[in-house]
Amino acid sequence: MNKTPKKRIFIKSYGCQMNVYDSNRIKNLFEPKGYSETGDLTKADLIVLNTCHIREKAVEKVYSDIGRIKKIKKNKHKLVIAGCVAQAEGKEIKKRASSVDYIVGPQSYHKLPSMIENNNSFINNDFLQNEKFKKLLFKSSNTVSEFVSIQEGCDKFCSFCVVPYTRGSEFSRPINEIKEEIKKYIDNGIKEVVLLGQNVNAYYDDSQSGKHADLAYLINKISEFDNIERIRYMTSHPNDMTNSLIEAHGKNFKLMPFLHLPIQSGSDKILKKMNRKHNVKKYYKIIDKLKSWRPDIALSSDFIVGFPEETNEDFDQTMKFVNNVNFAIAYSFMFSSRPGTPASKFKKVDLSIKKARLSALQSLLKEQQKNYNKSFVNSALETLFDRKGRHKDQYIGRSIYNQSVFVNSVSNLIGKKLNVKIVRSTDFALEGEL
Ligand code: SAM
Ligand code: SF4
Ligand code: F3S
Repeated sequence: MNKTPKKRIFIKSYGCQMNVYDSNRIKNLFEPKGYSETGDLTKADLIVLNTCHIREKAVEKVYSDIGRIKKIKKNKHKLVIAGCVAQAEGKEIKKRASSVDYIVGPQSYHKLPSMIENNNSFINNDFLQNEKFKKLLFKSSNTVSEFVSIQEGCDKFCSFCVVPYTRGSEFSRPINEIKEEIKKYIDNGIKEVVLLGQNVNAYYDDSQSGKHADLAYLINKISEFDNIERIRYMTSHPNDMTNSLIEAHGKNFKLMPFLHLPIQSGSDKILKKMNRKHNVKKYYKIIDKLKSWRPDIALSSDFIVGFPEETNEDFDQTMKFVNNVNFAIAYSFMFSSRPGTPASKFKKVDLSIKKARLSALQSLLKEQQKNYNKSFVNSALETLFDRKGRHKDQYIGRSIYNQSVFVNSVSNLIGKKLNVKIVRSTDFALEGEL
């Protein structure tokens, strides 16, 4: 009989897909210690806030949540601040919030169980990437699709971004280790993997002597698993978009025809101030090459509006760029000044101007997404179903182009890959019939 006392862990993710991946790993680390997950933080023995430092708003949310938790926290609760805010301002958190018990950064959270068990240190924000992955546990909570972190950190130092400081320098996991992790998910029925990295296409395994073991090589190796039917990756940097990766989009049919490739601005002047080290022309060249290998590839990107010294003319160039490319989906943010980054010292654009530009760009992107989705009505789209919808007999899946597809079915569709006839489109999704 299992005598381990039943304990509960509550975990909240605030950030990117890698942050969600880390939350899953934290949960896995505590399972052998008798913890199961709860969505109700008042019932939790251990509360973990896995935080994000990318924009000011994300950080404010963490401090307001700490304040709310303080009011309900009793002696039995342990409060852990993990993730990128813990890395960037761990010591300040402890000073500001006495209710916090433990602080762990994104490269040292594998230490958390022993920190709690031995109660010997409250903070660890060392950069221990290599050691971390060897100590983690990988248990799939899903039977269809799973995130797999293959690369971490960033050496690019865009002038606005905190990631090189919170996640450390670029680090790639060895192929064998990644394959071992994927095998565990395959045992749970997984059909799709989403390879993650802050600069996923900077991936390189230098332990594979004599082989050019880049992201394309890794994707081809993962495709050799018969059970893996789909592979995606994110997020890429234009300067690491190699010919081998571009060609893989035409040659490897398990690699989905979707690319999230942030550019941030359509103005070369602003790209230079952002220290992006590429210009708009380079981006156009990449997508031309990609389309020569995979003409139907769906494109996605990120934009920052109101970057310091962005003029109306610079912003017009962004709008023109978006009009030229025609994105399937794209994300846009107002510039947020981050402490310690070079751009925090640049001359700011007024908030009212930033808001107006964000609203104009978002309307254009929404229109493009709506038209993109509309273009699939009355055609068939291969869809992999991965979850139940909110309504009775409703199932949701992903098309090869990464759109959400909703259908009704009396039989269970989870894990099925089917051709769906698209009958309706909305701004953000598709509705289909089997
Ligand atoms: N590594 C990726 C890249 O090269 O673009 C993405 C990194 S970041 C997690 C995701 C997005 O957040 C960025 O593409 C950028 O658009 C946005 N972002 C990063 N720092 C920001 C800031 N200071 N203010 C507003 N948006 C920011
Ligand atoms: Fe941040 Fe730039 Fe690195 Fe992306 S490439 S993580 S935006 S510094
Ligand atoms: Fe946020 Fe850290 Fe991801 S700052 S976006 S959680 S890498």
